[in-house]
Amino acid sequence: MSMPRKVRKAVFPVAGMGTRVLPATKAMPKEMLTVVDKPIIQYAVEEAMAAGIEEFIFVTGHGKSAIENHFDRAAELERALEERGKMAELKILRESLPPEGSVFYTRQRAPLGLGHAVWCAKGFVGNEPFAVLLPDDIIVSHKGNALKDMIALYEETGTSVTLVTDVPREHTRRYGILEPAGDATGQAVKAKNFVEKPDPKDAPSTLANVGRYVLSPRIFDFLDEKKAGAGGEIQLTDAMVELMHEEDFYAWRLHGERFDCGDKAGLVIANMAMALRRDDLRTQLMPALEALLESAQKGEKKCA
Ligand code: UTP
Repeated sequence: MSMPRKVRKAVFPVAGMGTRVLPATKAMPKEMLTVVDKPIIQYAVEEAMAAGIEEFIFVTGHGKSAIENHFDRAAELERALEERGKMAELKILRESLPPEGSVFYTRQRAPLGLGHAVWCAKGFVGNEPFAVLLPDDIIVSHKGNALKDMIALYEETGTSVTLVTDVPREHTRRYGILEPAGDATGQAVKAKNFVEKPDPKDAPSTLANVGRYVLSPRIFDFLDEKKAGAGGEIQLTDAMVELMHEEDFYAWRLHGERFDCGDKAGLVIANMAMALRRDDLRTQLMPALEALLESAQKGEKKCA
């Protein structure tokens, strides 16, 4: 029986502990922290909806029930908004939800790593290709929707694909870096390997993996082995590299921006960047940011 090519499902691993943004994540899932006026996870779900995803599979864990509540109707709130004539707010609430019956939850019982979180969704994914979106990364495509393009590549070729973006060479130690199989100049680059956090001098390219994947269900053959990798965690990258040895695997170059909300500075930067993109906030924000910068610079001078 041939494997289906259509990518209908997306997995959202949201079971991590978010230790880099403590204490914010002590009682609140990291994925529910806000960027402007939406929780981080909402950006990824909207991106998946825009890419044509039909089924949304969340891998949650202990203390993550706020995520389930967020993707449910809030009947009492909706009634109150209706009574007060707040129709614009009501529309925002309703439009932010994936259709009823399209959202599924499973639990990762311990945060053993991203690879293990994806493995936990195996029963929901079955024998179909699927997308994985790491909500920490907010992706702003300059043209269309990168995930949609990655899905189109999978549906055309049947090869798995992961998103990469160019980073300064001195930053390669922060990322999984692509080793291209040949020419690396096009938008789709054939992958040979991913090297975890290499020294700038050893990095095989400056293309860093970011949190979007479209994967063949064969990835589960390798995730089933539950081999611990870097940091003692079961890594998705390790299973991807094993898959690359058996099947073609592509990296898709992002034409756009990526904001990593997984640490404190990244979360603040994402808030500023997403607010500056908003017509309703930019005019208020620009002078405030300029004033803050000026006073910070003066402060620096005082300390010097
Ligand atoms: P991160 O490594 O950025 O998340 O994983 P984390 O472990 O929560 O963060 P820190 O390092 O402690 O601050 C990226 C995504 O994968 C999920 C996280 O919830 C996050 O959305 N994840 C990670 C899991 O679902 N399970 C895991 O075991 C690890």
